[in-house]
Amino acid sequence: MQYGKFSNDAREYIITRPDTPTPWINYISNLRGYCGIVSQTGGGFSFHKDPRERRITKYRYNNIPVDRPGRYFYIKDMETGEFWSPTWQPVMKTPDSYECRHGQGYTIITSSYQGVEHQVSYFVPQEDDCEIWQLKIVNRSGKTRKLTVVPYSEFTFWSEPESRNIQWSMHLTRCMFADDMVLYNFIEPHPAFDMAENKNYVGDRPGLAFMAINKMVLDYDCSRDAFIGMYYSETNPVGLRNARLSNSIIRGGVACAALRTEITIEPGTEEVINVTLGFASDKREATRLRNKYSSTAKTAMALQIVQKAWSDYLGTFQAETPDKDFNTIVNVWNQYQCKTTFDWSRYISFYENGEGRGMGTRDSCQDTLAVSAQMPERVKERIFQILSTTQFDTGDCYHQFFPLGGKGELKGFSDDHLWLVQMVYAYIAETGDIAILDEKVPYADSKKKDSVYAHLAAALNYTERMKGSHGLPLILTADWNDTLHLWMESDKPESVLAGELYVYALKLMARLAEKKKSKDATMFLKRAGKMADVINGKCWDGKWYYRGFGGETIGTHKSRRAKIFLNSQTWGVISGAADAERAKAGMDSVNRLLASEEGIKKVWPPFEKYDQTFGLISRYNSGRKENGIFAHANAWAIIAEALLNRPDTAYEYYKSILPYKNNSTAEVLKTEPYVFCQTICSNDSITPGEGANSWLTGTAAWMYVAATQYILGIKPDLEGLKIEPRIPSEWAGYRVKRLFRGCMYHIEVKRTGKASMKLNGDAIQGGIIPPSSAKMARIAVEI
Ligand code: GLC
Repeated sequence: MQYGKFSNDAREYIITRPDTPTPWINYISNLRGYCGIVSQTGGGFSFHKDPRERRITKYRYNNIPVDRPGRYFYIKDMETGEFWSPTWQPVMKTPDSYECRHGQGYTIITSSYQGVEHQVSYFVPQEDDCEIWQLKIVNRSGKTRKLTVVPYSEFTFWSEPESRNIQWSMHLTRCMFADDMVLYNFIEPHPAFDMAENKNYVGDRPGLAFMAINKMVLDYDCSRDAFIGMYYSETNPVGLRNARLSNSIIRGGVACAALRTEITIEPGTEEVINVTLGFASDKREATRLRNKYSSTAKTAMALQIVQKAWSDYLGTFQAETPDKDFNTIVNVWNQYQCKTTFDWSRYISFYENGEGRGMGTRDSCQDTLAVSAQMPERVKERIFQILSTTQFDTGDCYHQFFPLGGKGELKGFSDDHLWLVQMVYAYIAETGDIAILDEKVPYADSKKKDSVYAHLAAALNYTERMKGSHGLPLILTADWNDTLHLWMESDKPESVLAGELYVYALKLMARLAEKKKSKDATMFLKRAGKMADVINGKCWDGKWYYRGFGGETIGTHKSRRAKIFLNSQTWGVISGAADAERAKAGMDSVNRLLASEEGIKKVWPPFEKYDQTFGLISRYNSGRKENGIFAHANAWAIIAEALLNRPDTAYEYYKSILPYKNNSTAEVLKTEPYVFCQTICSNDSITPGEGANSWLTGTAAWMYVAATQYILGIKPDLEGLKIEPRIPSEWAGYRVKRLFRGCMYHIEVKRTGKASMKLNGDAIQGGIIPPSSAKMARIAVEI
């Protein structure tokens, strides 16, 4: 079934019926860290800088309906007493018309009910810590209508996630109505108590949350229970069944903001109501924001600024290929998703509760790979942040960190630190900022400062020291695959993937060392050669690479289950560790045993029951999560096929997990057709093709890298922009506009059968365009 489509310019996804198979959401946020998640029915919640430490509105996990509560308006006809919501939820009166447009940084839901047309716009202004909900009402009923309008939102327990200590936090809330606003305050934590309760508390004043409207407030509720009523829900709140709200306040309990106003609207005329909800350091700041956004002209301008910022962002890369879906995803939605993963890693969505995960170290490193052309300064800041908050002077890293607490958590993984090298290398390749290697940055656990280069070398030295009896890196807690917990009594488990990631990082580091004219380059390459020898000498199963050693050989045809794993084949190719024949043979096995219509399985045959040797991965139901199709890892198969110069297979793999391919069968994928999801159920499950964990996934960054740097083949490197298209044979060529180090390149690739490259009409040898001081240049490529 189809629930929507892209707008003609692909900048919006238009949902045409509200009952999508899962909430189809959008992230509305700004650079200051105010962020909201909004669904196609106005559901969702907000937080400021850190969803664990400073949550603003309520997120009820595993709720049904999933996306409640939200940012709701109630509209009531004062003559008939009937009330409804312009976003369908929560009252759920079937609208006469409905449409939700998710765009970059905003969502607009239009609907009509009994002659009243509404348009609700949600967005977050660039320069303020608040969100705007704007309701436009047009009376098309031919008669004067008297309407009550109530915007409603439920506040949360602030820095104290409610699941942790609800009997306690319930008594710390205060919410009241003052100066025509609802002001909500979670009583400031006591430092001594807080340190024990909440390790990540940062010590700044929590401030307050507020809600205001630009109309006369006739009455209000600050108590959720007073507004909704015990044993009712957002669908039929007492507040709407009564003529007035109860002017409740709270000193302990669950806080909300419900503000009631009335409008009389003549036929054919329009009324606009602006709601401002946000975070402010004090009442004065809240008043400033309320006053600013009570002006409809100012809110319109604020929305235009959001839209302009996104046009500029997307303008750094635009492709025109024969495949419209490819263009839509690469030019708009994949870039948009990559910015969202850069901001929030795997922290908060309708699949991650925003308490425990924080910003993953390896995840965040990977997320930078797809945004450094668009926002190099922010990537540079992130590099410093990750090195200083997660890396120990021993070279290894915390597994995750928190934006507000600034501290890391969990350690003992075999790969987190290896991704640092890829992140820094990609940033330098994009920007040419080789000087970053000499910048001094502290470690997480000591005041000692070291150059970025020394940080990276320490990361590599750590892996060099942590090898097992076969000569591969120890897997420790896990490698990239968080749920592969290899276990053995007698020896220490080792990982082929970590070995390949190590080879790759060593090679990149050797190139950085060469740039610095350091002798280390030879040493790094020597180590890479040695590790590749181990991989080829001890880890080849005949038709593919093993996955590791953990009491038994992991990933061999001799096993009954989990005979072959995807990652050790793909990274064998990407790292260059695999010798040429095995690189092809490993990927042929992937094609034969793992590839399917729904995507490429991560392991085959899947686990069917718990197996201590493998740990958590074997607990997943067959065909699900890491025991199914892990979309993130599919992107590496595309890259590997491109590197093997098999562009048609690369493209086929790309298309197989493109979310939009399911647009007319959305009930199968269930998640949004405009963003990648982390995992897709394989045909070993009972729901093949079902997606989960949309939005926050490494799939976003890697699919962008796969599409732009490998299929289109436009890859920034230390010496310049490398152009090596590996496009499907059915394409006659493509055009791309790509900003690189200040110059906008207009690239045109044509399939002519000749191999040539010209920069502004002059032949270029070697496929690399050197950086240019010009603002614009033309590159013509024939393949
Ligand atoms: C999740 C984690 C990521 C991990 C992957 C595979 O996406 O966020 O860190 O690499 O799962 O286990």
